[in-house]
Amino acid sequence: MKKIVIALDGYSSCGKSTTAKLVASELGYAYIDTGAMYRAVTLYFLEHHVSLTNPKEIRDALGHIEVEFHHNPKTSRNEVFLNGLNVEDEIRKMYISNQVSEVSVVPEVRHAMVAQQQKMGRKRGVVMDGRDIGTAVFPDAEVKIFMTADVDTRARRRQDELLEKKQLVNLDEIKENLQKRDHIDSTRQESPLRRAEDAHLLDTSHMTIDEQVEFVLEKAASHILSNQMALEQN
Ligand code: DC
Repeated sequence: MKKIVIALDGYSSCGKSTTAKLVASELGYAYIDTGAMYRAVTLYFLEHHVSLTNPKEIRDALGHIEVEFHHNPKTSRNEVFLNGLNVEDEIRKMYISNQVSEVSVVPEVRHAMVAQQQKMGRKRGVVMDGRDIGTAVFPDAEVKIFMTADVDTRARRRQDELLEKKQLVNLDEIKENLQKRDHIDSTRQESPLRRAEDAHLLDTSHMTIDEQVEFVLEKAASHILSNQMALEQN
């Protein structure tokens, strides 16, 4: 069966990665968390004191950054490696969340990440989540979903996720971070977060994970089916 690209875009912490991961595993597709790539770049920039106003420094630094995903059979997770080092836990910390949107507005950073993401998905058969997948990375994605949820729900979900990793963060701090990132992500010059015209809207405020996964799988199945019917008719 012809493999497709499923693009999941939307605001921070509305369940994109959880949904994308489950959809990918259901379809036997690869899952690519593009936010993790921007987080890994942010970690590198912070560790190497890269100035965001110095394009040459940025270009040099990007030349030294290799971001990869490796499957960990113990956790069944795809974990992020920065230059060969597992940074999965480090990049989820609040100090990275507080800087990542500023790093992701830098055009050089976006160009480098988008090129890598396009390479990762060139054989199709991927579920990719992020902010600009359906608009800039794969504008030709067969299925596009734009996810949203009210900010209080998102902040509570994020707090639970952090608690699971033994990080206790105040709800207001999380909410402020989400709102700030949403603002920067949606108003930046280069490929801002916006709903693609052909994206299905998915508001997860009152949905369970199973319902979200079902929604995406149903859109994928109906695309694959209508494609097959069109092929049979020709
Ligand atoms: O999905 P996330 O919250 O881990 O993403 C972290 C940040 O990375 C997000 O605030 C904006 C940026 N990002 C982006 O600009 N483009 C993407 N495709 C994915 C994430």
